[in-house]
Amino acid sequence: MRKKVVAGNWKMNKNLSEAIQLVSDLRNGLDSFEPNCDVIVCPPFTNLESVNTIIKDSKIHLGAQNFYFKDSGAFTGEISADMLLSVGVEYVIVGHSERRAIFKEDDSVINLKLKQAFTKGLKPILCVGETLEQREGGITKEVIKNQITAALKEIPAENIANMILAYEPIWAIGTGKTATPEQAEEVHKFIRDLISELYNSNVAENLTIQYGGSVKPANAESLLSQPDIDGALVGGACLQADSFIEIIKSA
Ligand code: 13P
Repeated sequence: MRKKVVAGNWKMNKNLSEAIQLVSDLRNGLDSFEPNCDVIVCPPFTNLESVNTIIKDSKIHLGAQNFYFKDSGAFTGEISADMLLSVGVEYVIVGHSERRAIFKEDDSVINLKLKQAFTKGLKPILCVGETLEQREGGITKEVIKNQITAALKEIPAENIANMILAYEPIWAIGTGKTATPEQAEEVHKFIRDLISELYNSNVAENLTIQYGGSVKPANAESLLSQPDIDGALVGGACLQADSFIEIIKSA
């Protein structure tokens, strides 16, 4: 039985003191109940080490928002898997639409990052999603299929148990427009069937598929109650402990 996973992608928000405050509030809030899901926070690089100290021996897991696929060397401004592991990082977001669109990361880079994550023992959270234009053009499933097939090229079945997939329709990210539970479920089911085709039904059944895109306390329960929606990747609403905890409770 797959476990629900709620992750917070802080994006480029929170300086060090703000990060310490947020994660301390989160830890205190989570101490008062037993969440029915795994909880991950993905702060900016500069906060990882301090956040890791605060979440020690708690229910919160640590994720990073990005990394580079090379081991080390002359890659100014980049962060390696070993560097992340050395500060307690367990998960890493790969292929977020903001990385794809703003920083021009293509499918082949995403594939290399996934391979490096698996080699190093980091658990990737692979993001996929269509633009509004693609949805309106009726090619959502084709886009998702292409993204997933390219990202998972040459990646063996045994690695899939160590990753999370996140469906994040780009038109729903930071816009306040959420996919309806039915729209999201349709794509999640499609993704699970695709994983079953690419691997097998056992791999597909055990894969956690999160939804992301304007998840808020008010819509989390209806999304997370869908059969193929196994959690949420939360942006804006994870920047306050209260609203993130509400979403965790919905799971
Ligand atoms: P919002 O929740 O702010 O729409 O962001 C979603 C997201 O991109 C998470 O990775």
